Amino acid sequence: MRKFSLSLAVLAGCVALVAGSALPGQESGRKPGNNAAAVARGKTIFQQKCTVCHYDTSDQKKIGPGLKGISKRGTFSVNGNKITDENLKAWIENGDQLMPGLKDSLEASQIKDVIAYVKTL
Ligand code: HEC
Repeated sequence: MRKFSLSLAVLAGCVALVAGSALPGQESGRKPGNNAAAVARGKTIFQQKCTVCHYDTSDQKKIGPGLKGISKRGTFSVNGNKITDENLKAWIENGDQLMPGLKDSLEASQIKDVIAYVKTL
């Protein structure tokens, strides 16, 4: 009987270990350049550089179009282009007559991060 409860305790310990290591945040947190971390960084950049003109929680127009749902919609409302990393990069870097391009105020890696975030909207 003592042996039995001991092995039960060991078993419980293993289950706790496995459950612990399966936490999504912990797992992805170890890989460099992983998407969850990029999205988190991108959100901060978005709040600093984009929220003046864009909502991320609504598709209502602020100064520019609300970006909520842009990924699901799959196309830019401004020009009908597909929502791809390349097109978002070109857009964010260069803007247009109404949106200032941000290639001088953001690092390439920051643009990548903000794209990762915009794609989750
Ligand atoms: C000074 C205001 C301003 C800032 C800052 C700004 N934008 Fe814009 N953005 C606009 C305007 C205005 C448009 C619409 C342009 C048009 O209609 O031709 C636009 C359009 C867009 C579009 C296309 C939306 C669609 O539905 O087609 C995306 C994507 C976008 N912006 C992303 C961003 C991101 C990401 C940032 C921050 C890195 C940013 N913008 C910063 C004003 C801004």
